[in-house]
Amino acid sequence: MRPLPSLLIALIVSCGFATTAVMADDKDDELKELRAEIQTLRGMIPGQAFAMTQVAYNASNLGIAAQAGNWPLATFYLGETRVRLRAAMRLQPVRKISTGDLELTPIATAVENTQLAALEGILAKQDKAAFAQGYSDLLNACQACHIASEKPFLQLTPPTSPAETLLKFQP
Ligand code: HEC
Repeated sequence: MRPLPSLLIALIVSCGFATTAVMADDKDDELKELRAEIQTLRGMIPGQAFAMTQVAYNASNLGIAAQAGNWPLATFYLGETRVRLRAAMRLQPVRKISTGDLELTPIATAVENTQLAALEGILAKQDKAAFAQGYSDLLNACQACHIASEKPFLQLTPPTSPAETLLKFQP
């Protein structure tokens, strides 16, 4: 085999380097674009405070619906409260507090399995008096997490009017 002329070898080698350099540049640009996109998307995700207003909206309507004896509507809002609480945890499962990290999800899961589960049973029995007690227990459990999150000023009290004014709460 004839040896390749050195000029040709030099050309092949330099082309190889040039291609690698172009590929590396492309990758850098792609990474930069991806980082910028992630930043933009992060900015679009609502914060936990917003998610909590959704939890509160549904929990408030739940209270009024049950007071009105509208059991199907109350059952609907109980489900929504649970779903929104889970969403709030997905948005921010851990919070920084003065003593370090606070794991929120186990607290929310306990509220779901205890106070929300108890209320579900009460709704099934359509028991208004038991509901008032169960609802107060739920708000206390919600508030316990606010205290743990170093936000003791977020005190909850049973609603006197629903968060939604367009809906008819009377059955
Ligand atoms: C696992 C912890 C946890 C549980 C359980 C929880 N919360 Fe919260 N809640 C928070 C935290 C943390 C904030 C503050 C969010 C922030 O400021 O970023 C908050 C904020 C709020 C706010 C104020 C929102 C605003 O910005 O105006 C309301 C109202 C609220 N929660 C209602 C409830 C209700 C009702 C429940 C129960 C059905 C509940 N929360 C259960 C952690 C919790």
